[in-house]
Amino acid sequence: MKYKIETKCLRSGYTPKNGEPRVMPIVQSITYPFDSTEHIAGLFDMPTAHMYSRFSNPTVAAVEEKLSDLEGGVGAMCTTSGQAASMLSILNICKSGDSFVSTSSIYGGTVNLFAVTLKKFGIECVFVDQEASAEEIQKAFKSNTKAVFAETIANPALTVLDIEKMANIAHKNGLPLIVDNTFATPYLCRPFEHGADIIVHSTSKYLDGHAVQVGGVIIDRGNFDWTNGKFPDFTEPDESYHGVVYTKEFGNMAYIIKARMQLMRDLGCYPSAHSAFLLNLGIETLALRMDRYCSNALKVAEYFQNSEMIEEVKYPTLKGDKYNNLAKKYLPKGASGVISITIKGGREVAIKFMDALKLAYNEVHVADICTCVLHPASATHRQLTDKQLIDCGINPGMIRFSIGLENVDDIIADIDQALKTL
Ligand SMILES: Cc1ncc(COP(=O)(O)O)c(C=O)c1O
Repeated sequence: MKYKIETKCLRSGYTPKNGEPRVMPIVQSITYPFDSTEHIAGLFDMPTAHMYSRFSNPTVAAVEEKLSDLEGGVGAMCTTSGQAASMLSILNICKSGDSFVSTSSIYGGTVNLFAVTLKKFGIECVFVDQEASAEEIQKAFKSNTKAVFAETIANPALTVLDIEKMANIAHKNGLPLIVDNTFATPYLCRPFEHGADIIVHSTSKYLDGHAVQVGGVIIDRGNFDWTNGKFPDFTEPDESYHGVVYTKEFGNMAYIIKARMQLMRDLGCYPSAHSAFLLNLGIETLALRMDRYCSNALKVAEYFQNSEMIEEVKYPTLKGDKYNNLAKKYLPKGASGVISITIKGGREVAIKFMDALKLAYNEVHVADICTCVLHPASATHRQLTDKQLIDCGINPGMIRFSIGLENVDDIIADIDQALKTL
């Protein structure tokens, strides 16, 4: 039976058999005893059961199946953070000496991971402007380029990615497109339907929604041809895994099984069953919450648009926003709860305004169930140079508003009283 997304949010991944718990059980066990040594040996050849919770666990697996189903993939692997998901998504393809292309309009932590930490691993990231023409972007590709990375709705610049354009460029070069779909969630946008090959999420954001677990996930569409000659790690024996050839052994699940059996086995950033249980509770109400985040955020964005004290409002579905057309195509149900505003008067006035808010929390988080604000230039993006800040679409007076599920009149009243203090 093919269910709609609201039903999948509740029912995918776990179906109780006769008399079993209705609620997804928390299997808080590191290990799983078997009858014979031979059985365990067989699992090392073909991982058909859980062996050890550093890389697989029944509760986490149920949530992985749900997330894969929501995005329309063939398989998923959860991680302990969104950062870990982004890192593994690249390390599963690139090794020392390789490079990859990323749009510059992405989350600041990912910029740092790509520009600084992966560079220390010998992997080079070449940043491109996603608004540039295909010909211009093409100049970033070299013979050692192995992947393309981009974000559906960029945090905090709120640019909307032309997924089809990026996928076409990647595929023309025989490379996969990895999309960070954190802000959109599979409820607002399903990048596989537009040509993406791999999706990553910080599940700490809307998927969880309640600010109770830090997590990430990588989802594989299972459609990319790893045998095109550019990816020997997929098509030649992996000596660290008794000579397995991933594409031969695992077919269209080569990418996600390699990520688990090679990288998760060695790096071990796998979430606990309890974290996965909490994540699942959040996903169950994703559809309801996303509708409300979007409608609340649009009303707040309209309020800002009508205020004389605001220099700029960015919200993709707000009338007149630069991304109206891309939002129409990729985000027909709404553009999440995140709004970026710039107050007249620059950094100092922005901080004064934020400190005057009474309902909105001033916190290092986004996509929370409660309304919250953050000043990217002095917090999440503090490590970036001015040039990197501008490339990410951030100016020093910008405030990122993450509109929550409170009554929208209360959110607007709070903003109104804070603006009046200036
Ligand atoms: C778009 C995006 N991707 C990835 C991350 C990293 O996720 P995490 O904080 O779960 O490591 C974040 C965090 O804010 C984000 O906003």
